[in-house]
Amino acid sequence: MTTIWDLWSEARNPPAEPTGLSFQDKAVLVTGANSGLGYASAVKYAVLGASPLILAVRSQEKGDAARASIIHETGHTGEIIILILELSSFESVNTFVNELNERVAKLDVALLCAGIVVPDYRTGSDGYEMTTQVNVLSNTLLALRILPKLRAAASSEGDCLPHLCFMNSLASHAVDPEWLPSAGQTLLIGTLNDPSKFDLTRHYYLTKLAAWFAISRIARVVEHSEANRDEHKVIINACCPGMCRTNMQRDLPWYMRLSQQAFLLPLSRSVEEGSRSLVSATGLGPESMGKLWRKSAGRFWREDGYLEPSDFLKSERGQELADDTWNEILAILQPYLDQGDFEF
Ligand SMILES: NC(=O)c1ccc[n+]([C@@H]2O[C@H](COP(=O)([O-])OP(=O)(O)OC[C@H]3O[C@@H](n4cnc5c(N)ncnc54)[C@H](OP(=O)(O)O)[C@@H]3O)[C@@H](O)[C@H]2O)c1
Repeated sequence: MTTIWDLWSEARNPPAEPTGLSFQDKAVLVTGANSGLGYASAVKYAVLGASPLILAVRSQEKGDAARASIIHETGHTGEIIILILELSSFESVNTFVNELNERVAKLDVALLCAGIVVPDYRTGSDGYEMTTQVNVLSNTLLALRILPKLRAAASSEGDCLPHLCFMNSLASHAVDPEWLPSAGQTLLIGTLNDPSKFDLTRHYYLTKLAAWFAISRIARVVEHSEANRDEHKVIINACCPGMCRTNMQRDLPWYMRLSQQAFLLPLSRSVEEGSRSLVSATGLGPESMGKLWRKSAGRFWREDGYLEPSDFLKSERGQELADDTWNEILAILQPYLDQGDFEF
């Protein structure tokens, strides 16, 4: 459990700069690249030589503005590609992937930064609660659908392994087990999708937990697949930037934004500092995918080290809930997946 004093200390001790890394001529995708941590990460990749740098954003205007700003800040001379990604719709995720496949031959790094918190129950075009759709379902669909492109990079260059990195949050590891459906009741995605169970704070934490379950299960399946041996490996991990000053609370009512900002000001770090963890997570070695505990894989990079899973996550019930949630997510996504995207 993180205390206010931990946050105070973390705000004053930012993660290390990923200075030893180079992304020279690597194809790097960043989602949510027009704002906050995604934008700050894209700036770092530009400085570190990424090309093409692929900015996944919600509109051409936002992409153009981000590209102009990155060039202005860094003098980047490599290629910058803007692709439209709307995570509130599965169809849009697939349109995005089709365009990515047409425009980019291989993908060396995918850093999935886009995410939201919303103040009330609302649904996306596929009928799922919005935070669940964006933070969990669409991000998982996107990850599964870009795996072949990452694998293409693994097969073409043995010297540098491709990375699929999810920005998660410490929130996933701080869920109170009391908030969770008990065994035999509605499953986690079903609970998140139930309007009568919506609670702003809990909902955000629970979507991050569901996303973590998906990440660790994707990592587990990929790690155990024949295709992921040695030089064909894709490294899958998760990271948390710590508490950062971003626009994430934009959808909350003004009084909540104001009180949160006042509270967070002395306890948070800049997006530049937070993005150090995200970029360094995409330079970690195969150990970052290593088996952490029974049946699971995918490690969680935070504050220049690996976060230990909570007792609940390691428990029998935690593992059972992770498996149930993964199966629930897969059943929802199945109609949108291509045969051969991912071997289950
Ligand atoms: N800030 C923190 O302290 C912190 C800490 C840990 C984890 N995180 C994670 O960071 C994520 C938020 O990023 P941020 O803090 O950098 O906030 P942010 O500045 O609000 O950035 C969020 C990004 O996600 C994009 N996005 C939102 N909804 C989308 C959708 N439906 N489809 C595609 N893209 C969408 C936004 O695009 P638009 O500009 O078009 O809306 C924006 O680019 C969340 O997942 C959160 O869990 C944040």
